[in-house]
Amino acid sequence: MDPWLDPAEITTERLSIRATTRDDLPVMERTWLDPKVRRYLGGPISAEMLERRRQTQPGRGMFTVTVDGATVVGFCTYGRTEQGDLELSYSFLPEHWGHGYAREACAAVLGWGFANVAGTERIVAITQAANLRSIRLLKALNMVKVDEFMQFDAPQVMYAAYC
Ligand SMILES: CC(C)(COP(=O)(O)OP(=O)(O)OC[C@H]1O[C@@H](n2cnc3c(N)ncnc32)[C@H](O)[C@@H]1OP(=O)(O)O)[C@@H](O)C(=O)NCCC(=O)NCCS
Repeated sequence: MDPWLDPAEITTERLSIRATTRDDLPVMERTWLDPKVRRYLGGPISAEMLERRRQTQPGRGMFTVTVDGATVVGFCTYGRTEQGDLELSYSFLPEHWGHGYAREACAAVLGWGFANVAGTERIVAITQAANLRSIRLLKALNMVKVDEFMQFDAPQVMYAAYC
């Protein structure tokens, strides 16, 4: 099985990162419904989608990021693009923005991807061009812009990290 489907435990200087479980659903729901988190992701999800996600989430490939193993500050998720690239996405709770947690977590998760997912030459991330916090994060991770395109009626940019 592709190992990105089953995230491992990762420890960084300040964070413990582990596979997401159903116990994380209440915090995941906050990230799906919070207008600040969803600002560049099409807004809060609908009641119908919330119900569906409650039945099906967490999907595979999700990492829960905690401080001291207890407080959940956000999530990093691996998926695959249509072109077959490993794709990293991330969602952190607004009260934990501005501490460098996303940077620390994404750097560790990228390192884990390169080390553990055979054949990974690059890992991509896609974000709205207007999502400046997200772009600052991608640049801080030393990722480089490799594409720009329109999707969901908004300009999107793709960044890539290379091993
Ligand atoms: C994108 C997102 C994860 C960025 O969160 P963030 O907390 O700003 O990201 P970082 O971890 O890079 O933190 C950087 C900030 O922490 C500050 N910081 C404080 N202590 C720090 C430390 N020890 N180390 C590094 N940075 C630190 C930095 O100065 C920077 O501040 P600034 O935003 O004022 O410039 C967050 O905005 C989010 O979850 N958005 C919603 C989801 C989303 O849009 N995802 C994109 C599509 S996948």
